[in-house]
Amino acid sequence: MCGIVAVVGKNQAYKYVLEGLKRLEYRGYDSSGIAYFSEKKLNHVKSVGKLNKLIKKISLLDIEPLNKSSLAMGHTRWATHGKVDLNNTHPIISNNKVAVVHNGIIENYKFLKNNLLLDGYAFNSLTDTEVIPHMFYKYLKAGKSFLESGRLILKLLEGAFAFLAISNDNKNEIFVSRKTSPLVIGMGDGFHVVGSDAQSISHMVDKVIYLEDGDYALISDLEVKIFNEKDENVNRRTINVNIDHGLISKEGYRHFMEKEIFEQPSVLINTISSLINENNEIVLDLEKIGIQINKGITICAAGTSYYAAMVGKYWIEKLSGISVNVDLASEYRYRSPVTSSFSSMLVISQSGESIDTLMAMREGKKSNLKTCAIVNVDQSTIDREADHTIYTRVGPEIGVASTKSFTSQLIVLLMLALKLAKKLNKINMKQYLKFVDDIKVLPSTLSKILKLNDKVIDVSQKIKNAKNVLFLGRGNLYPIALEGALKLKEISYIHAEGFAAGEMKHGPIALIEEDLPVIMFLTSDGLEDKAISNLQEAISRGANTILISDKKCINKSQFFTSKIEIPSFDKDFNSIFAPIFMAIPAQLLAYHIARERGTDVDQPRNLAKSVTVE
Ligand code: G6P
Repeated sequence: MCGIVAVVGKNQAYKYVLEGLKRLEYRGYDSSGIAYFSEKKLNHVKSVGKLNKLIKKISLLDIEPLNKSSLAMGHTRWATHGKVDLNNTHPIISNNKVAVVHNGIIENYKFLKNNLLLDGYAFNSLTDTEVIPHMFYKYLKAGKSFLESGRLILKLLEGAFAFLAISNDNKNEIFVSRKTSPLVIGMGDGFHVVGSDAQSISHMVDKVIYLEDGDYALISDLEVKIFNEKDENVNRRTINVNIDHGLISKEGYRHFMEKEIFEQPSVLINTISSLINENNEIVLDLEKIGIQINKGITICAAGTSYYAAMVGKYWIEKLSGISVNVDLASEYRYRSPVTSSFSSMLVISQSGESIDTLMAMREGKKSNLKTCAIVNVDQSTIDREADHTIYTRVGPEIGVASTKSFTSQLIVLLMLALKLAKKLNKINMKQYLKFVDDIKVLPSTLSKILKLNDKVIDVSQKIKNAKNVLFLGRGNLYPIALEGALKLKEISYIHAEGFAAGEMKHGPIALIEEDLPVIMFLTSDGLEDKAISNLQEAISRGANTILISDKKCINKSQFFTSKIEIPSFDKDFNSIFAPIFMAIPAQLLAYHIARERGTDVDQPRNLAKSVTVE
């Protein structure tokens, strides 16, 4: 999704901005641009497509004035209002005087635009953004100061956004504002920077200030003046960021997604070791999470994180008996939920920035639920606003399609289910310790499962040209069928759907035809015979059936076209763990099919890593 980086007070500002934009590439974007002052003029360069196209365009410019320019502001755009073209690419300029970069959506832009049209302003783009530079121009022309103009504009804007503005009259200043969309200010020595996240500016600074919701600021080389929603001059805490300098590398893998799949055994050690202490206790604080044993838990999330939440519901209800409601965050925020039977809300988000999840959490707070976030990104908006946070600690995830975050979220949810089961005496000490031991060896089990890579490549060859693929699962593997289908469609662009196996005859069976790939996840949970019989109709209609299963079930039927056996780490394969194990072949399958089809695996078309607009 859109990314913003700006620098004031540093020669060659444009270079630092371009480096910052590179660090935001993983969010997904379809065009980019920068604005800067040189030879007393406001200049801009824009390009459609990847950043290297913008960099190439800039390299053709007269480099001397560019090098001397100490203010630059850049943007990567993920199209919302108006198609992907140069006119709609940011910065959006008014009368060669004001430039604006913007993330988010101005909901009342049509109304503002009509007023500006009546005032004689011409619109060159179809963006909602363009009202902002025009309004700046209007107020500046009327004699208002830059700060006063920004302040007046903010009173008129509705929506969730972050934007930066620069003006020809104020060549050493950036007006910065945030409402819901994140923005961070970096504190340098004799210069200041702004970015959509700390990673985007950590090559320049290690001290940052996170703007709070509704804050705006005027930033120059030597000064940062911050104001809150009530226009009061405020101080916000400066914090040290400890983020790896330099770009995160693929470490020899072809794609970040491949690297992130294969590093799961090593990074999940961080997740596990942060939550189990030396006495084998799970160090989750149920009180801080807000759990009351006579009340239920409600969970909200989006995309892959939502499927983790679905697995969490199976686990928590099965192991502890506590009732769990799971909602898509985008639905929860508008559906007037009844919350009286819940004490706490869990929100799950890799990025900690998904707007729907953030808004669902705010709804939860309004209903007096205690909020607990399961996030990967420290200091993300959801992390900072939640009453309590559990970190998944798997390091930056760059591939747009979530992989290691999913398995880490599952591990956190499983530990929460176990902690509750122990507290409520639903499992005895022996069972609890066995679970903890099994969790501790999960990383090495996942290493064994990753050795199935070649087998998965064979299967992917057989389905890479399919037009449609069905995924089936029962019980806690139903969400894995949904996740398998999501992964495949996200990165290979093959139409894929996940279904609960028991639902086959209620509709999906109509789709079965000769050679249609049907992938079934199966584990020995007592429902395996039912699941196989659900698939019998597909087998007899000539579908290309693929079974991904544990040792106990793999030979339940000889009719499957292909089989992938998940190695068990224990003679008593515990079906509770099956979602974590089965996620790996699902990820590998999507990855290899997409790679074979030559798609942009890490930045699939139209998708964004963190969806910060509705
Ligand atoms: C986007 C990404 C998905 C991700 C979802 C939720 O749609 O493309 O991969 O699962 O957002 O993201 P979150 O950061 O909230 O987990």
